[in-house]
Amino acid sequence: MSSPLSVIILAAGLGTRMKSQKAKVLHRAGGKALVEHVVDAALKLTAANNIFVVVGHQAEMVKAVLAPRGVRFVFQEQQKGTGHAVMICASQVPAQLGQVVVLYGDAPLLRVETLRRLCQLQAETGVAAVAITTYLDDPTGYGRIVRNEQGDVLAVVEQKAASSEQLQIREINAGIYCFSAPQLWKHLPEIQPNNPAGEYYLTDMVEILNRVGEKVSPLVVEDSTELLGINNRIELAEADRILRKRKAQELMLAGVTIEKPDTVTIDLDVQIGADTVIEPFVRITGETVIGSECHLGACSIIHSSKLEDQVQVLPFSMISSSYVETGAQIGPYARLRLENHVGAGAHIGNFVELKKTRLGRGAKAQHLAYLGDSTIGASVNIGAGTITCNYDGRAKHPTKIGEGAFIGSNSTLVAPVEIGDGAYVGAGSVITDEVPQDALALGRARQVLKEGWARKRREANVSSD
Ligand code: UD1
Ligand code: CA
Repeated sequence: MSSPLSVIILAAGLGTRMKSQKAKVLHRAGGKALVEHVVDAALKLTAANNIFVVVGHQAEMVKAVLAPRGVRFVFQEQQKGTGHAVMICASQVPAQLGQVVVLYGDAPLLRVETLRRLCQLQAETGVAAVAITTYLDDPTGYGRIVRNEQGDVLAVVEQKAASSEQLQIREINAGIYCFSAPQLWKHLPEIQPNNPAGEYYLTDMVEILNRVGEKVSPLVVEDSTELLGINNRIELAEADRILRKRKAQELMLAGVTIEKPDTVTIDLDVQIGADTVIEPFVRITGETVIGSECHLGACSIIHSSKLEDQVQVLPFSMISSSYVETGAQIGPYARLRLENHVGAGAHIGNFVELKKTRLGRGAKAQHLAYLGDSTIGASVNIGAGTITCNYDGRAKHPTKIGEGAFIGSNSTLVAPVEIGDGAYVGAGSVITDEVPQDALALGRARQVLKEGWARKRREANVSSD
C-alpha cells in the first residue's frame, strides 16, 4: 500500500464498570494489557510512528506500557466522546491522503486479517468510510446500523437515542472504521455534542458523510466474538478464554500436542516447537521460548524462560527467568527461581530449588537441595539435602563446585566457598574452607560408639520401676 495508513486507538476512558483503580485498557487478558493487543494488531498494518494512542485516565501508566513499541500518544484531558478523541489527533495525523483507521483500546479480540479486509474494502471502493458491523442476538447497549435499500450505512443510532423500531435492529456498530483521510478531517469538525450526554459522537460522521453525498459501507464480520468490547470483569475473563483458546489452536496446528487444551494457560507471545507435549493445567507465560520434543508435565509453570529441545519438565515444577539446555530433566516439584542456567542433560529432581545458579552439563541434584549463587561444573553430583548457605544476613556469597565433584548428602556449603574438580565432600559435612581438587573433605564430628550402652539403659529402667 503506497498511501499512508494512520491508526487512532481510543484509550482514554476509565471504564467505570470494571470497579477498579486501574484504567480499563490496562487490565490483562491473554497475558497482555487490553490496549497492547490492539496496538499489536495495528503494528501489523502500519509503522509505529503512524499509530496514535489517545490517552487520558492514567495516561502515564498507559504510555509506560506501550512505550517500547514506539507508538505516539495524544493526551485527551477530558473525555468528551469518541468524536472528540479523534478531533484532538487532527494536528498530528496526515490529512492530505491515505486512510485513517479508528480502533477502541478495549476491544482486544479483533483479528488483523479483519483489519486488512477493512482497509482493502475502503481502498478498492474509494468510499468515504467503511464501518465494521455484526449481527448480535442481544444488541442491547450497542449503536444500531441503519441501512438504505442499496445496503449502505445511513446512520448509527445509539441505544439511548433509538426508536422502538430501531431497537429491533440486530446489526450493531463495532466502533471500528476505516476513513478516507481527507473526508474524515474535512467533516470531523461538523460533529456537534447534540445528545443528552453532551458528547461528540464519532458515529455522527456516518450521517454527516451521507448528508454531503458521501458513502459509508458496512463490512459485516461473521465471528462476532472478534468485536467483543470489554466493559466488566466477566467480559475480561471471556476475552482471556478466547485469546488463549486461539493460541492453543495455533500451536496445535503447528505441531504441538496439548492434552485438554481448555486447561492450559499460554501467553500469546510464547513460542513452542513441534512435537512438544503439554499436559493439563500447564501455565506458560511471559516471553518464553520452548524447543521441539519437550515434555511439560501437568501443573508446571514456566515464565519468561528458554527451554532448548527435548527438555523434560515433570509435574508441578516452576521455572522462572531461566535457561535450560537440551535434554535436561526438571522436577517433579522443582523450582528454578531466578536466572539459572541448566546444562545439557542435567537433572534437577524433586524439591530442589535453584537461584542464580549455573549447573554444568550432566550435573545432578536429584532431591531436596537449595543451590543459590552457585557455579556447578559438569557431571557434579549433589547429594540429597545439600544446602548452599549463600546469605550471611548481610550479603550474598558465591559457591563454586568444580567438574566431577561429589557432594555427599546433607552437606552444608558455607559461602563464599570453593570445591575443586573431582573432590569429595563426605555426607553431613559443614564446609567452610576451600576443598582442593581431588581431595576428600569431612566436616563433621567423628562417630562415637559405646558398646552395650542401650541394653544397660533398658535394664536400669526395668529395675527402677
Ligand atoms: C461506542 C459507539 C457505539 C458502538 C460501541 C461498540 C460511539 C458514540 N458509540 O459506544 O456505536 O456500538 O462503541 O463498542 O462511538 N474513549 C476515549 N475518549 C472519549 C470517549 C471514549 O478515549 O472521550 C474511548 C473509551 O476509553 C473506549 C472507547 O473510546 O475505549 C469507546 O468509548 P465508549 O464510551 O465505551 O463507547 P460506547 O458507549 O461503548
Ligand atoms: Ca464500550
